[in-house]
Amino acid sequence: MKRDFLNISDLTREEIYKIIEYAIDLKKDKFKDQSLKGKSIGLIFMKQSTRTRVSFEVGIYQMGGQPLYISGITTQLSRNEDIKDTARVLSRYLDGIVIRTYSHNEVEELAKYGSIPVINALTDYLHPCQVLADLQTIYERFGKIEGLKLAYIGDGNNMANTWLIAGGLMGLNITVATPEGYEPNGKAVKEALDLAKNTGANIEIINDPEEAVKDADILYTDVWVSMGQEDTEDRKKAFKNFRIDKSLVKKASNNAIVMHCLPAHKGEEITEEVFEEFADVIFEEAENRLHSQKALMSFLFNSLV
Ligand code: CP
Ligand code: NVA
Repeated sequence: MKRDFLNISDLTREEIYKIIEYAIDLKKDKFKDQSLKGKSIGLIFMKQSTRTRVSFEVGIYQMGGQPLYISGITTQLSRNEDIKDTARVLSRYLDGIVIRTYSHNEVEELAKYGSIPVINALTDYLHPCQVLADLQTIYERFGKIEGLKLAYIGDGNNMANTWLIAGGLMGLNITVATPEGYEPNGKAVKEALDLAKNTGANIEIINDPEEAVKDADILYTDVWVSMGQEDTEDRKKAFKNFRIDKSLVKKASNNAIVMHCLPAHKGEEITEEVFEEFADVIFEEAENRLHSQKALMSFLFNSLV
């Protein structure tokens, strides 16, 4: 049966560790895995992207495959062709689909009606490819994932939702601090709490950034305004205390690191000073998108890992 990657919890904890170990291998030898030879992978983007698009295109090339970048607006999807028809057509040409769009339901429908693996490259609800790369980065830095504490400061968006679920799955303690009214999606919180019953992860949603960072090993943030959201003055006002600055970092654990999925809006969710201090980690995360996605594709498209 085909496997999709729409949510980080579509993989088991053991599979995530296997993929991370394999990604670390591929990082040392970029042409080692040629398992996409003869395979064509479609990359459908209904939203902008720098990292995701380029890392998938380059990764597929390095694995011997053919990446096809498909800008959503140039397809019949933008003229309301059914997702389920698109899924059935593309399944007859391609060996896999990577899709970035607005509605998570559309990605689920694409996976349901397609007969080839589908990878979620970001929806309004989740961004599992980013969290997979970040888990690799955390594992490389700390030598473990389980038992650490990650404090997410900012909007209860796709990144916050994905971190909650990943925390529950991996036994990584997560505290999300958002302004009132900007909390994460209730469905993600419920899934995280259910998963945490097996791993013992502590999952918390609060409205106080200083409280959130206490004893945190990792501080994480993302833009205040995600793709598809309206950039209003009210929103900016609500978020003004949800910025990672030097004084917030000082309140975390002594060796805490700061992570950001990028793109960053310096001066909003993170100060330029903190961003530059932790630039090594932040750009390692960006690099690991390439390695972890290659390991993921090897797993999903060939079960080779
Ligand atoms: N972090 C991330 O997904 O970046 P892009 O939007 O540039 O793909
Ligand atoms: N939350 C951001 C993440 C970008 C990688 C967005 O959806 O725009």
